[in-house]
Amino acid sequence: MFSRAALRSSAVNVSRSNGAALSLKARASTPLAANPCRTPFIDSLGARRYISVYGYTQAKALVYSKHGEPKDVLKLHKHSISAPHGTQVNLRLLTAPMNPADINQIQGVYPSKPDFDSSLGTGEPSAVAGNEGAFEVISIGSGVQNLNKGDWVIMKRTNQGTWRTHAQMDESQLIKIQNKEGLTPLQVGTVSVNPVTAYRMIKDFCEWDWLRAGEEWLIQNGANSGVGRAAIQLAREWGIKTLNVIRDRKTPEETESMKKELLDLGATAVITESELLSAEFKNTVKELTHEGKEPIRLALNCVGGKNATALAKVLAPGSHMVTYGAMSKQPVALPSGLLIFKNLAFDGFWVSKWGDKNPQLKENTIKDVLELTRAGKFKDIPSEDVKWSWDTQGPELTDSVQETLSGFRSGKGVLKFEGGDE
Ligand SMILES: NC(=O)c1ccc[n+]([C@@H]2O[C@H](COP(=O)([O-])OP(=O)(O)OC[C@H]3O[C@@H](n4cnc5c(N)ncnc54)[C@H](OP(=O)(O)O)[C@@H]3O)[C@@H](O)[C@H]2O)c1
Repeated sequence: MFSRAALRSSAVNVSRSNGAALSLKARASTPLAANPCRTPFIDSLGARRYISVYGYTQAKALVYSKHGEPKDVLKLHKHSISAPHGTQVNLRLLTAPMNPADINQIQGVYPSKPDFDSSLGTGEPSAVAGNEGAFEVISIGSGVQNLNKGDWVIMKRTNQGTWRTHAQMDESQLIKIQNKEGLTPLQVGTVSVNPVTAYRMIKDFCEWDWLRAGEEWLIQNGANSGVGRAAIQLAREWGIKTLNVIRDRKTPEETESMKKELLDLGATAVITESELLSAEFKNTVKELTHEGKEPIRLALNCVGGKNATALAKVLAPGSHMVTYGAMSKQPVALPSGLLIFKNLAFDGFWVSKWGDKNPQLKENTIKDVLELTRAGKFKDIPSEDVKWSWDTQGPELTDSVQETLSGFRSGKGVLKFEGGDE
């Protein structure tokens, strides 16, 4: 049906577990110029790096050893990483986004949680936060088959921990970006969660009638989110019209500006939550869909509450509503008639689980999105860089993490490593 679509546990050798590394730690206070054991060089990204004669790279990671608010539980932990051996690969962070799920995971309210362990030499067993990000390969073990220095990679699975300046992982835990030409670290570092979620929900929950391209609709809330923006652009490419709901901004001007932003991405129509919940909404839908001749066949819901109920009410009989988020923390309440008389189906989608079950399809989906990106058909998400250099202090990073769930941000917070290992 859709064929027409153009359509570690990384064995990090840590300072405390290794005599050589311990001595490296003791030297940390020695001025660099006077330190004969570290040789500065300029690497392929033009960044200054220091590696000990033992081949150890110094690294920092945002770790947590108990659940709670990020500002209370996240700590910046310094450690060292050995030279890779066998199929190991050493990586340097390029960018890593702060997604709502990452925060929920730190809070302990997300169903998937990374194991806490002592592999990074933390005082208490801990996990590295973050699930998504783009890394550059800086060195490879002798048994590595498919990766080379300079390649860009992303994590194959969730819970691998991406909020770290450097990592050592096994080659098998990584997806290589086959052709990084024309792509930016932001695009690569944010491709595997939100765009994949939007792509799969549109493709897998509705049998679109391709003979009616341009005459079928999807409706979604949270339309300005990363997932929402991806859904708008994919639907545009695939000939599906989109009715998009955003929250009212602080001023009418800001609301209009947000609407325009999404229309410029290819949204067919954008309305606010207050317009969605008004009596006028039925008429708006009638007008847009030519009295229902153009059916709304799919709803994507990441908000819940009354907002989700309003989306469901305008779906054509037999359609699906896919819930993938719960930003309002309100339950999805459904009038029984929608189930009895309209035979609507209500589904949930979780990209982590889907990706773990469908690794090859996940890679193919990522490849498709990156091709659209390279072709200029998939725009960057608005982002706020959170610069991370060797001197950046823990609270600067944890404050930015904490802001992630505050709402009304001008862009997704993205950690951008600018080091230089020291
Ligand atoms: N199930 C999955 O596999 C999956 C995958 C990816 C994402 N998600 C979920 O999808 C949602 C969006 O994620 P994202 O990374 O795309 O988000 P994002 O880019 O960080 O944007 C957050 C979105 O949530 C909205 N929002 C924040 N607080 C809200 C509230 N109280 N009520 C209604 N809307 C609110 C924001 O609207 P304003 O601009 O108005 O604040 C914005 O549209 C999250 O719930 C996330 O957990 C699920």
